[in-house]
Amino acid sequence: MQVFEKKSALIHCLSLLKGKNKQVGFVPTMGALHKGHQSLVLKSIENNDITVVSIFVNPTQFNNVDDLKKYPKTLKKDLELLENSGCDIVFIPSVEEIYAKTVVSKIYSFDGIENQMEGKFRKGHFDGVATIVQTLFEIIEPTNAYFGEKDFQQLQIVKKLVEKEELPTKVIGCPIYREKDGLAMSSRNIRLSNEQRLEVPLIYKTLKKAIEFAKTKSIKDIYDFVQNEFDASSLKLEYFTIAEESTLKEVSEINFNEKNRAFIAVNVGQIRLIDNLSL
Ligand code: PAF
Repeated sequence: MQVFEKKSALIHCLSLLKGKNKQVGFVPTMGALHKGHQSLVLKSIENNDITVVSIFVNPTQFNNVDDLKKYPKTLKKDLELLENSGCDIVFIPSVEEIYAKTVVSKIYSFDGIENQMEGKFRKGHFDGVATIVQTLFEIIEPTNAYFGEKDFQQLQIVKKLVEKEELPTKVIGCPIYREKDGLAMSSRNIRLSNEQRLEVPLIYKTLKKAIEFAKTKSIKDIYDFVQNEFDASSLKLEYFTIAEESTLKEVSEINFNEKNRAFIAVNVGQIRLIDNLSL
């Protein structure tokens, strides 16, 4: 496995491989890797000649300085996991290498998708995500890029980014990887205390019940049920929304002929967790 810190060296290495007509799979990450990331890496390895993983905690996508400071960093373990998984290339640039002197995002418009859900609570977040994803795509020029469906809104934003900027990469969404008790795997989970860890399975449990209720109950009843479940716990519900998958607009009634999904964001002390389930 080769590890690069400089984009010029990475571009040079990739140009030699692409000259031999190799297909490049790419998994962008912010590190603190878990089995969910590993499943994306394995999928890329299965379907491409070369797999590149980036590890870069992107400052412009954090709207909360404390969240950025506390973002878990486990580089040594990450590199071991990638090596053992069969990854070919890892890119670990510094902030200066990516942003030079001005650590700012480009401003994008994604037909309103960026203003729904996460967009309401994390101002500028998706401009930061799109900026780094476009930068990395332009450096690596991957054939295929893999994103987890836990960040479903991010996945839709990246698909729009590729369409709007006419980038030659296929964006592939991969299923959420869960712990045995249903908790969606997230780098932030390692910040949970033992007590909090015992409480957070409520997120998936409530989502599953909400999906079940969608067959018989009104939207209002479902929203009330979800709110009550969290009011009775120590977790704080930030939002629960049933939305159309393509536009991410909230639906006013459930139509099983449309592709709808239930989305949730919850605060557990200082830690913010998100999840979603298809209806
Ligand atoms: O999902 C993430 O880890 C990040 O948002 C990404 C896609 C690596 C961009 O920084």
